[in-house]
Amino acid sequence: MKIINANDYNDMSRKAANIISAQVIVKPDCVLGLATGSSPLGLYANLVERYKQGDLDFSQVKSVNLDEYLGLTHDNPQSYYYFMNENLFRQINIAPENTHIPDGLTENAEQACTEYEQIIQSLGGIDLQLLGLGNNGHIGFNEPGTAFEQLTHCVSLTESTIQANSRFFEKLEDVPTKACTMGIKSIMSAKKIVIIVNGKGKADIVQKAFFGPVTTDVPASILQMHPDVTLVADAEALSLCDI
Ligand code: F6R
Repeated sequence: MKIINANDYNDMSRKAANIISAQVIVKPDCVLGLATGSSPLGLYANLVERYKQGDLDFSQVKSVNLDEYLGLTHDNPQSYYYFMNENLFRQINIAPENTHIPDGLTENAEQACTEYEQIIQSLGGIDLQLLGLGNNGHIGFNEPGTAFEQLTHCVSLTESTIQANSRFFEKLEDVPTKACTMGIKSIMSAKKIVIIVNGKGKADIVQKAFFGPVTTDVPASILQMHPDVTLVADAEALSLCDI
């Protein structure tokens, strides 16, 4: 695992954007695995800026998102569909038909998960998967206890994730309790993984995930077994790591 030290959130965002930009420049028709949440907002803003300056071309890029809540319509600002369009897709020249997000409105979620996994395969797999790290060590919506062998599947969110995500909703009751997520196996199949983490609040879980035992209790700990992982983290997030 490679660790890139960043000073703060902005520095983390810029350094992670450098890696994604390099991927797009080296392989213009690459498949990017994308994440939502607070962590990648600055990184996406950096990519938009570079696109506007003419330094990046997304016309051949394909994307697959990690996850989506079940039951939120596309015009709901909390849906990941809405998030991706607002913060990235509509601001760059990626073709809408080349972007993929699990279908959170399907009648048959199990089948939609199987089909999503087939989409990833049909694109030739993920060249670079971007991840954030949940407070409880989750990646995507793979909560503690999830089997490492899982492909894209439906999940019930844990109380701690519902609590963490409630900051984006008016009331706790509005937070969806179910989601569709790429599984750990889908994530681990990516050729390259970049995980971005910032803030004091994640220092403990960063230490456990990257320097503790590999265990399903801390889903992100499996990343220690991937041959090409880069952790881009700020000083606060790395403050409990002995590096
Ligand atoms: C988002 C996702 C989640 C987040 C994680 C961290 O698509 O899959 O695993 O990456 O919950 O969220 P933030 O960045 O908001 O702290």
